[in-house]
Amino acid sequence: MSIKVSNLFYTYAKKTPNEHLALNDVSLEIKQGDFVSIVGHTGSGKSTLVQHLNGLLVADSGLIEIDDFTVYPYKQRRKNKKLHSLRKHVGVVFQFPEYQLFEETIVKDVAFGPKNFKIKEKEATEIAKKALLSVGIPETYFERSPFELSGGERRRVAIAGIFALEPDIVILDEPTAGLDPKGQEEIMNLLVKMNQEGKTIILVTHDMDLVLRYTNHVFVLKDKELVFSGTPIELFSHNREDLSIEIPPLFTFARKLKNRGLDINISDIRNVDDLFEQIQKEKKR
Ligand SMILES: Nc1ncnc2c1ncn2[C@@H]1O[C@H](COP(=O)(O)OP(=O)(O)O)[C@@H](O)[C@H]1O
Ligand SMILES: [Mg+2]
Repeated sequence: MSIKVSNLFYTYAKKTPNEHLALNDVSLEIKQGDFVSIVGHTGSGKSTLVQHLNGLLVADSGLIEIDDFTVYPYKQRRKNKKLHSLRKHVGVVFQFPEYQLFEETIVKDVAFGPKNFKIKEKEATEIAKKALLSVGIPETYFERSPFELSGGERRRVAIAGIFALEPDIVILDEPTAGLDPKGQEEIMNLLVKMNQEGKTIILVTHDMDLVLRYTNHVFVLKDKELVFSGTPIELFSHNREDLSIEIPPLFTFARKLKNRGLDINISDIRNVDDLFEQIQKEKKR
């Protein structure tokens, strides 16, 4: 088991007039090698939650256990000695990470992370080049300024900056937001590849098609609380109105076909090709 969050509470601006509870008793577990999604309305606490998973925010109370690391809440924060190494173990790609590129070339940008972990310039540059290639940025781009790239390319460079730390767990906060379909597909293919290499992927998203298509488990946050944990199929089948989840049209369509007597297996349908295959199989019977 790789991640265990127990009874997490977090308040912004504690003991000020702006005090604001953002996480209310959140507990969850994520297994190693999982590809999970975290969904919920804007303001439900998704970004706050993921910032706890690499120690950027420290809880008011509750505990976070990630492999060999334990992150203690504020009152016991003196015990949080290994947060620096935790940030290498758990890489977080923030929303719109491309705005954080600042070096004059993209290779220097990606090398910045490893150098921060005391890796020598030359080796850091090698690691950076490898990371850039792995996100599909070709060598001819390496010496370019981040500002010469398209939005999708810039985002991939920013993601390479996290990959360069070689984290075992990668968290991405709305990584496809604002990208065109091609850019989105490139990012998702990248995550699939990372997951196949054994990394645990945590995807924060609003896009239920991505949840259905790529993830094996989904957590729903609503108004600071965890209100659902299960597979995407379970989430969409239950159709719980209180969760205000937008059910993917593909899922609704597949269910209608099944209700009309077509013998298909809904739980095997994650994209249009899967549905097509099932319909063909059924026709051959
Ligand atoms: N830096 C901050 N200071 C005060 N309140 C914040 C801050 N960041 C987020 N919040 C509040 O905490 C709640 C959860 O926010 P957030 O975790 O960003 O939600 P989400 O990522 O699901 O949109 C929201 O009500 C938001 O306004
Ligand atoms: Mg957010």
